[in-house]
Amino acid sequence: MKALILSGGKGTRLRPLTYTGAKQLVPVANKPILWYGIEGIVAAGITDIGIIISPETGEEVKAKTGDGSRFGAKITYILQSEPAGLAHAVKIARPFLGDSPFIMYLGDNLIQSQLDPFLENFNKQKLDALILLRPVPNPSAFGVAKVDENGRVLQLVEKPIVPPSNLALVGIYFFAPTIHEAIDQIQPSPRGELEITDAIQQLINQEKHVEACNLDGWWLDTGKKDDLLSANQIILDSCIVASTELKVDAKSQIIGRVQVGEGSEIINSTVRGPVVIGENCRIENCFIGPYSSIADRVTMVDADIEHSVILQGAKIVGIHQRIVDSVIGQRAQLTNAPPRPKALRFMIGDDSQIELV
Ligand code: G1P
Repeated sequence: MKALILSGGKGTRLRPLTYTGAKQLVPVANKPILWYGIEGIVAAGITDIGIIISPETGEEVKAKTGDGSRFGAKITYILQSEPAGLAHAVKIARPFLGDSPFIMYLGDNLIQSQLDPFLENFNKQKLDALILLRPVPNPSAFGVAKVDENGRVLQLVEKPIVPPSNLALVGIYFFAPTIHEAIDQIQPSPRGELEITDAIQQLINQEKHVEACNLDGWWLDTGKKDDLLSANQIILDSCIVASTELKVDAKSQIIGRVQVGEGSEIINSTVRGPVVIGENCRIENCFIGPYSSIADRVTMVDADIEHSVILQGAKIVGIHQRIVDSVIGQRAQLTNAPPRPKALRFMIGDDSQIELV
């Protein structure tokens, strides 16, 4: 069994963060989203992993993630020179996949469940494909499945205007090598992509063995800001273990589960967990509220935040209103607002969103 993780794409819904970086490297609780997927795959005993990368962000994904040794895996990077669809990604990964069955994992998906039970089901029943489904309120944003009363998959459609059900395809699929023939038989969709949903539909049309399982527990497709904040909240709730030796001064108060990296200083501040703070940060005269993730080398002085994600090297100084539900990009600076500002002065990148509430 091999694994194929997709970490290309343009990440349009997470702009402006994704102008300069891969959406799969955006951190959740200070760890790139992609790494949770790798860890889940390795935990299911699969260590031969191919990662599809794009020309725009591939080098960054490679440099950050490495050869797999930090996960106990072997990673092969496969360049997809254009975003021509999920089935196209499988096609170009063919030399890596050979005749092995594989799990395909979209690198911006996060799930709570372990993969083992699905893998066992797939292997035991000798399926051609196993897909995971989840009821959602907005099926038109996903691939959607129509199933009969026995759970057999009848039809799959990608982002339908009129969805045949509320069952979305989760971005995790199990395939036998028969998927390659199905991919060879499909044509690009109206949006010009080779769709994996069409390839699975092809298997269904040929009466191959395609099954669906319902996914329990949380599932987050971290493509958008609010999804990213929810993912951050859930991971901080479930995974953060308090650091035992915290470097704080006598005037600071640490409440609840708070993890702080090497070289970070907390001065005259209150931190109320769950919170994760990276390495070499300076937090002075601040309130850091629950569900905040602060990456490495962040400076925060005279500021209040809560339920927010602050990326590497950002600087927040002298902001007297509480910052909530926010994602602040790498090296962004928010500085020097007097208590009642007379004017607001901005230098904001394309597609940024500012809400003064
Ligand atoms: C992709 C798939 C879609 C699936 C979704 C799950 O869409 O094409 O079928 O439901 O992932 O995350 P995307 O998120 O790339 O628009």
